[in-house]
Amino acid sequence: MAIIKTKDLTKRFKDVLAVDDVNLEIEEGECFGLLGPNGAGKTTLIRMITAVSPPTNGEIWVQGKDLERSAREAKSIMGVVPQLDNLDPDLTVLQNLMTFARYFNVPKHEARHRSMELLGLFKLEDKRNSAIRELSGGMRRRLLIARGLVNNPRIIILDEPTIGLDPQARHLVWHKLTELHAQGVTRILCTHNMDEATVLCDRVAIMNEGRILDLDAPHKLVARHVGSDVWEIEVDSQERENLLAMLESRGLDFEDAGTHIYVFHVGQEDILTGIVGDGHKLRQRPAHLEDVFFRLTGRSLIE
Ligand SMILES: Nc1ncnc2c1ncn2[C@@H]1O[C@H](COP(=O)(O)OP(=O)(O)OP(=O)(O)O)[C@@H](O)[C@H]1O
Ligand SMILES: [Mg+2]
Repeated sequence: MAIIKTKDLTKRFKDVLAVDDVNLEIEEGECFGLLGPNGAGKTTLIRMITAVSPPTNGEIWVQGKDLERSAREAKSIMGVVPQLDNLDPDLTVLQNLMTFARYFNVPKHEARHRSMELLGLFKLEDKRNSAIRELSGGMRRRLLIARGLVNNPRIIILDEPTIGLDPQARHLVWHKLTELHAQGVTRILCTHNMDEATVLCDRVAIMNEGRILDLDAPHKLVARHVGSDVWEIEVDSQERENLLAMLESRGLDFEDAGTHIYVFHVGQEDILTGIVGDGHKLRQRPAHLEDVFFRLTGRSLIE
């Protein structure tokens, strides 16, 4: 049974259809990614699943129970790391964690123990008595993630977990998320970062303009939509129309990205002989999720 299931889930803000008819089944223990550009509807979807914002239409079940009727119970098994910092500025670093743990009825002694452990893990012990305003942006982000884990959640939902983190801190977070896998914790994350999605996620939903365009294991999405390699042709403006026409006439699968044309599912290089003249620079590279997004929408993930 899916740990989270949605049916025809929709959210409308006046004239904006932020989430449009989303049907998802998230399996217990998996790491599930939502990958999409700014405004795709990721945060809005997450806010409905975490019972923060009511749907305009559709239904959500958490552990088989209708979320509308069991929001309290659902929230007790979830850890949420929001996109925007909502730490309490009137409390210290340690107090922020302990207050949160107490909110989940964790006994005081245990709350302190867990909070200190998480501060250690995220390299914030030295800051435990600091005010929130004394933290750097990356430290706040780490504290927010620590807070999401303080109630030992069965489901952790992270909205852009590693945005603003340096590579070292990012790997700390990736490592922790991988460790949670061994404990059977379901992980859901929104990200623009295709490396993050590829490294961490068992399945990724590609989201754009409120809709899920496709959903599968990262390598399967890549294989299905673009093949194993991408051929990038650097085009100069004079040759451009000619080249596009030739690619078209040979039935090749390509996208025009302005300064470059990407050709997918090439298979053998000789398919391109005769099309790509000496004047063009041609490069073969491994395909990745960004290409999938480009193929599905004609847009870059990050513009
Ligand atoms: N409270 C709100 N009132 C009105 N419109 C909203 C509200 N929240 C989100 N939207 C709109 O809904 C759409 C989806 O926004 P959302 O924040 O879910 O996107 P996102 O995928 O999380 O983007 P980002 O990557 O920038 O975080 C956008 O067009 C946004 O302007
Ligand atoms: Mg968002």
